[in-house]
Amino acid sequence: MYGERLVPDGGVEYRAWNPRRSKLAALLLKGWTILPLRRTSEVLYLGAATGTTVSHLSDLCSEGMVYAVEVSRRAFQGLVALAEKRHNLLPILADAGRPDAYAHTVTSVDLLYQDIAQRDQVPIFAKNLRFLDPDGAAILMVKARSIDVARKPSGIYREVRTQLERAGLHVLAAVPLEPFQADHAAVIAEPTESQ
Ligand SMILES: C[S@@+](CC[C@H](N)C(=O)[O-])C[C@H]1O[C@@H](n2cnc3c(N)ncnc32)[C@H](O)[C@@H]1O
Repeated sequence: MYGERLVPDGGVEYRAWNPRRSKLAALLLKGWTILPLRRTSEVLYLGAATGTTVSHLSDLCSEGMVYAVEVSRRAFQGLVALAEKRHNLLPILADAGRPDAYAHTVTSVDLLYQDIAQRDQVPIFAKNLRFLDPDGAAILMVKARSIDVARKPSGIYREVRTQLERAGLHVLAAVPLEPFQADHAAVIAEPTESQ
């Protein structure tokens, strides 16, 4: 998919998952090993780019569906090429800040995942919580420098936690992704019972 090593073992082919290319791999290597995913899970992925991390989620949810939203036409072309080889990947060319554009396609998902390096990354994520199943989970990859270059990342992660709790999520953890991804943290959350 992106030049990664392939390892055949007992009739199965495994793909190396690079934590410097994929923040989800970095999260796993930082010790957060509980991914709320089954073979049949449905995932809404915001900021899919050309599909590096999407391709791994597509492997994991082989009988489910990955809805992959990307705003850049150029990156979207790569995503479409990937979807031609994968039956469980649906690329959506749209701005994740305007979720009405894909509300007729995406219904309810088990995992909401966002990796968008924009100043308004938290409001974008909050707008997409409408697609999250009450028993699902949400992962926001926060790029601190995109929110404010001048502030310490730890203060920004604390503020993001508070914003997500106000949006109706119970935050389980905020895991800094160094040394794999500088100034990034994964914030993992689930809907509160009242949602
Ligand atoms: C850091 S890259 C994502 C890398 C990718 N998640 C991966 O691990 O393979 C961020 C992507 O978000 C996209 N993006 C930025 N703003 C967006 C928006 N409002 N809606 C959808 N995608 C957006 C960018 O075009 C870019 O491709």
